[in-house]
Amino acid sequence: MKGKASAPAKIILFGEHFVVYGNPAILASINRRISVSAKKGKKGKVTIKSDIASGEFEGSTFKLIEGVNARNALDPLYFAAKQALDARKQKTGLEITIKSDIPYGVGLGSSAAALVATIAAVESLLGRPDKKKICEGAIEAERIIHKNSSGADCFVSTFGGLIHYSRGGGLKKVDSKTKLPLVIGDTGIKHNTGELVSSVRKLKEANQMVFAGLMSQAKDICNQALVALGSGNIGQLGVLMNESQLLLNRLGVSHEKADDLIDVAKSSGALGAKMTGAGGGGAIIALAASKEDSERIASDIKAEGFAAFEVEIDPIGLVIG
Ligand code: MEV
Repeated sequence: MKGKASAPAKIILFGEHFVVYGNPAILASINRRISVSAKKGKKGKVTIKSDIASGEFEGSTFKLIEGVNARNALDPLYFAAKQALDARKQKTGLEITIKSDIPYGVGLGSSAAALVATIAAVESLLGRPDKKKICEGAIEAERIIHKNSSGADCFVSTFGGLIHYSRGGGLKKVDSKTKLPLVIGDTGIKHNTGELVSSVRKLKEANQMVFAGLMSQAKDICNQALVALGSGNIGQLGVLMNESQLLLNRLGVSHEKADDLIDVAKSSGALGAKMTGAGGGGAIIALAASKEDSERIASDIKAEGFAAFEVEIDPIGLVIG
């Protein structure tokens, strides 16, 4: 008997970082996934195997199987799996296998997707999985690595589609009147979300007034983006993405390589481009007017020696079974 689940990656179109302090954000899940299978194993032992890290937990003991910094990567997953076992007073062990086609550590939500899919796989092995509880469990586990998580990444990976999210206000599906031909460019520079979120907190504490002004501009951009999506004004969306990038630059969370990729995308005809996620390198997203344009933008980014791919919005989110 196996429990199986898969969960998608995400992009943030508007509002990263500001969402941590209660602002709205617009996010989408995309057609790249993490798949997890879970089966029962030797009592008390939880083995987790993934492409980047593998190890075995028994109580507080960790045995490395392979990977650099494996414990850091696996701890939240173990916590999440253990929560699911303890909630059902189950003493069984687990063997968890994770396969991913999401580039990790570049702001595309691979850790949130791994948590969502892992909890869902374990829950489906043990009983009746409930999406809301899975999402809550994933956010709790995510806060081990990034204690101020807004929860946005876990929400979008669980419920899928194009969404408007705010901390406390939850999620609303957004109807887009237009297709969004999107390209992701990957600087390949891995970041630490927790450190970037802390750097913004320091900036906020040192410059309360300035930060309040940036929050208000970010909120305004998000509201205008909702209107642009609703009316299918894709050109305006591009303009708003560029404005959003200026605010992220003011927060100091972008990176020169990300800025370079944004310039490449714009020179190649993107309507707008910005970093996505926590920043500090990571990935950028570019919006194109047509499929033909998005193909050219991806190929121009690749010609500069970086990974790039076109993405579609995944309407489904978490799939169990
Ligand atoms: C990370 O994908 C998004 C951030 O806004 C952090 C968060 O929302 O928890 C930077």
